[in-house]
Amino acid sequence: MIEKNLYIKTYGCQMNVYDSERMADILKPLGYTLIDTPAGADMVILNTCHIREKAEEKVYSDLGRIRPHKDEKMILAVAGCVGQAEGAEIMRRAPYVDIVLGPQTYHRLPEMIARAQRSKDKKEGPGRGILDVEFPIESKFDHLPQEHTTVGPSAFVAIQEGCDKFCTFCVVPYTRGAEYSRPISAIHEEASRLVKRGVKEITLLGQNVNAYHGLSPHGEGEWGLGQLMAHLATLEGLFRIRYMTSHPRDMDEGLMMAHRDIPQVMPFMHLPVQSGSDRILEVMNRKHTRKHYLDIIEKMRKHCPDIALSSDFIVGFPGESEQDFQDTLNLVREVGYGQAYSFKYSPRIGTPGALLEDQIPEEIKSERLGRLQELLFTQQKAFNESCVGKSMPVLFDRRGKREGQLLGKTPYAQSVYVEAPARLYGECLEVKIEKASSNSLTGIVVTTESE
Ligand code: 5AD
Ligand code: SF4
Repeated sequence: MIEKNLYIKTYGCQMNVYDSERMADILKPLGYTLIDTPAGADMVILNTCHIREKAEEKVYSDLGRIRPHKDEKMILAVAGCVGQAEGAEIMRRAPYVDIVLGPQTYHRLPEMIARAQRSKDKKEGPGRGILDVEFPIESKFDHLPQEHTTVGPSAFVAIQEGCDKFCTFCVVPYTRGAEYSRPISAIHEEASRLVKRGVKEITLLGQNVNAYHGLSPHGEGEWGLGQLMAHLATLEGLFRIRYMTSHPRDMDEGLMMAHRDIPQVMPFMHLPVQSGSDRILEVMNRKHTRKHYLDIIEKMRKHCPDIALSSDFIVGFPGESEQDFQDTLNLVREVGYGQAYSFKYSPRIGTPGALLEDQIPEEIKSERLGRLQELLFTQQKAFNESCVGKSMPVLFDRRGKREGQLLGKTPYAQSVYVEAPARLYGECLEVKIEKASSNSLTGIVVTTESE
């Protein structure tokens, strides 16, 4: 087999990170090895994100940057959500792209590559690109290799994909398609293989992960996320289970009980609310109120008192008044987040929000984002500072920039820098937190035994 070089650039969410890993797994048997620059690559894949305008523009500017590196042999592919949403447009604007595919067809990459190769051999020239943005009947999950090629101490496993909720700002239902849950046995199998190879933490991924309802192991009925996590917790050697991203509408007792009863389920939850104003939540078609969200948080805290919370916020959604925005700030004050993401509303073509009148001027969006981020930043810093002096288990999942330094994660998903020898990489050890900044912690190892 001829050895070839593969470069993949990933934009956007964790699901894209998982998809990129899986594309590399599919291409490995064809002789492709990952490299970290496009120069000298036989194949380049841009795994794109369509969630906001900026992410989309980045793809076209990166295509322009890669073009000079593109020699006769290089196959250039655009994958992911921009591929899905704008396939034909990409082919038109960048006819030197060989393949455009969406998130649901990447299991067919080997066939697409073979076709692109034939076209190159025949010297058919630009404009003969391959477009595969179908939503196939078969699930890609049934066609992915069983083994992950590269594994570290922490791994992602996609368990659910797509969305049927149609929030009026969001492209996901159009780019990722309808909601689909993988069967419990397939997930257990994938997780078990990872754990056998030393993975200690698994993050279960889904656009609506807590809407998960997969076929039970015996093929009778469906299990929810709480039951799935209880089943995975029986895997010996799996120390930590996380999940993201959840939707308030899909919170159930089973999930809250899982936080209470399963020690491997980490005390952290990313539960986007987007806005604190009932009026805006309604126009966003979130199908929940501010009170509903706050009730969930209260219940969750009853079951799991130390849970750290995270959220996503959008400022400047059409029609958002200063009062609506104040409602968001007040909600943030009421909840108290450990961390959070916040964005300016970006109108996306094809979504109902883009057609609403009363779009908010850019300056107002920026100004509100600034105020919201200041508040969130203060909360994050306070949360980090509250950890100083405490000891907690830290999973060392990254090597530091300097020799003798490792990076790890607390149960609450904070990053911790620790002076520790390289041999402790992959261990989960008790660390005493000594210092906190707004983005990370610093600590020292206080035991040398695994959790
Ligand atoms: N504009 C700004 N932010 C958006 N998000 C989704 N769509 C948009 C949009 N059109 C944000 C939401 C979501 C996160 C993944 O991205 O907050 O939870
Ligand atoms: Fe971006 Fe959404 Fe696609 Fe993830 S699913 S890559 S966030 S558009």
